[in-house]
Amino acid sequence: MCGIIGYAGDESAVPIIVDGLKKLEYRGYDSAGIAVFTKDSFKVVKQKGRLVGLEERLENTTITSNMGIGHTRWATHGEPSDVNSHPHLGSGSKIAVVHNGIIENYKQLKAQLERRGVKFVSQTDSEVVAQLAEYYYNGNLLDTVIKTANALEGSYALGIMCLEEPDVLVAVKKDNPLIVGVSEKGNFIASDVPAILKHTNQVFYLEDKEIAVLTKRAVQFFNMDKELLTKQIETITWSVDSAEKGGYPHFMLKEIVEQPKVLCDTIQSEIIKIPDITSFNKIVITACGSAYNAGVVSKYVFERLCRFPSIEVELASEFRYKDACVDEKTLVILVSQSGETADTIAAMREAKTKGAITLSIVNVVGSTLAKEADYTVYTAAGPEIAVATTKAFSTQLVVLYKLAVKFAVQLQKISADEGRKLSDEIASIPDKVAEILTKIDFIQKYASTCIGYKSIFFIGRNIDYAIALEGSLKLKEISYIHSEAYAGGELKHGTISLVEENTLVVAISCCQRLYSKIFSNIEQVISRGAKVFLVSNVEAAEETDKLSLLKLPNIHELFSPSLSVIVLQLFSYYVAANKGLDIDKPRNLAKSVTVE
Ligand code: F6R
Repeated sequence: MCGIIGYAGDESAVPIIVDGLKKLEYRGYDSAGIAVFTKDSFKVVKQKGRLVGLEERLENTTITSNMGIGHTRWATHGEPSDVNSHPHLGSGSKIAVVHNGIIENYKQLKAQLERRGVKFVSQTDSEVVAQLAEYYYNGNLLDTVIKTANALEGSYALGIMCLEEPDVLVAVKKDNPLIVGVSEKGNFIASDVPAILKHTNQVFYLEDKEIAVLTKRAVQFFNMDKELLTKQIETITWSVDSAEKGGYPHFMLKEIVEQPKVLCDTIQSEIIKIPDITSFNKIVITACGSAYNAGVVSKYVFERLCRFPSIEVELASEFRYKDACVDEKTLVILVSQSGETADTIAAMREAKTKGAITLSIVNVVGSTLAKEADYTVYTAAGPEIAVATTKAFSTQLVVLYKLAVKFAVQLQKISADEGRKLSDEIASIPDKVAEILTKIDFIQKYASTCIGYKSIFFIGRNIDYAIALEGSLKLKEISYIHSEAYAGGELKHGTISLVEENTLVVAISCCQRLYSKIFSNIEQVISRGAKVFLVSNVEAAEETDKLSLLKLPNIHELFSPSLSVIVLQLFSYYVAANKGLDIDKPRNLAKSVTVE
């Protein structure tokens, strides 16, 4: 969490850094700050609160500088406050640092420095990096960064400047992402591509414990032994527009509307390299949050198509600590938009240690999961900026469907011809999603009547239950309305006691064969005073005064979550929009959860 950016070049640094921070704000937004070189000192402007506050402050100042660093924060150590905001300076104001990550041994380091008379001003773990670097500084910033990084335990992506070397910006990382961008007008460091995409699509991905030394004309890479490295430059294919709002009030709405296109791109990109599933006896799908929900949906698909003896879905945060029964006969599938989620990375490493083969489904090229897994399949969602995932989730689903079909053919559970028919059905998803998007007005109007509910429950059976989990997560994270998802059959085992007047139940029903079952659950909740919003493609479904209906296009039951989720995303979006909430940056959340 936290976003960092740095620039060294010919242009004015402040607007470049602030614009980059806008693109990184999804990573954390409780405070923001910049430090730039002016004639003979650092000019530091930082404060608690959203970036817009910092921007306003900067608008009233003229700062001439061609080099600097910036930070947008998601607090881990020390409350959000002006003094805890980054950049941090050493006590002599000689070193300036921005940090993303957690310095686990900061207390020991701080105590050692304090014993030597160093005065700390913040409660953060990050300040220790600035103080330590300043303490170690010996006239060479690269040497100092190596020595400092060697003393740190934990995770970090760091941008560091030194007053005595006004042309040099040094970056180093461990367990947190950092890219280096190069262009005619200067060089950049950033936590993520969208921050610099406007200026360059030529980037280097830093590996752990690699150091980048930037000046305005050159970039050099070193390892911790100060040996010069030769690194491969990569070309980013994301368009500049994809990281802009493009006239939409929120990134989330833009990203929902983009789904027909990104689904098409993902469906059309061929899965080139996957393992032979016949050499495994177990599949474990592991991920966090919505990516986990995509895994839950896919378990139904893998089970139905592959008839595989053992398919499990695990939260990555649980998998990593449970001493899982996996071995070289297990395929562990990791699902992640960012490819940087700490728990998912830890789950992958744990699985590998036990000899399992790993396959990651990832959106961000060059991310840790993509690099470290034995196999990687990319989703083609493009940059996802809104904290609540929509298009990345949808593309994860179709990759999982495609894998399930491929594995089912490999296992000879379905014929090649049946496989082709299922693939055609998957290929029909983008057009059907586009058809659902024509019903936006209805969903917007209906959602505007739902902002007063204290609790909203989501129910479904079978694969409809799996997607209900995602509907409920989406609603609670952006609308702050309490919500839970239940399997319809579970209602009578306890949950129904929560249903009363002024409860809304969102029911999903795309399993034709289970319609009568979910309908009896609907009747049970209506008779206890609930109102129902039914999302269904079942012909028999009808509207009543207690039940509002949104009809979906027909599709194979196993792929129906790709359609129902669009309605659930729009419903959540418009409930939150009608409440006037900050949809793209919900409270307490950050997009990329790189800490435990
Ligand atoms: C919810 C959401 C999160 C992420 C989760 C995993 O809308 O976006 O629950 O799905 O934090 O993130 P990734 O996919 O980057 O591993």
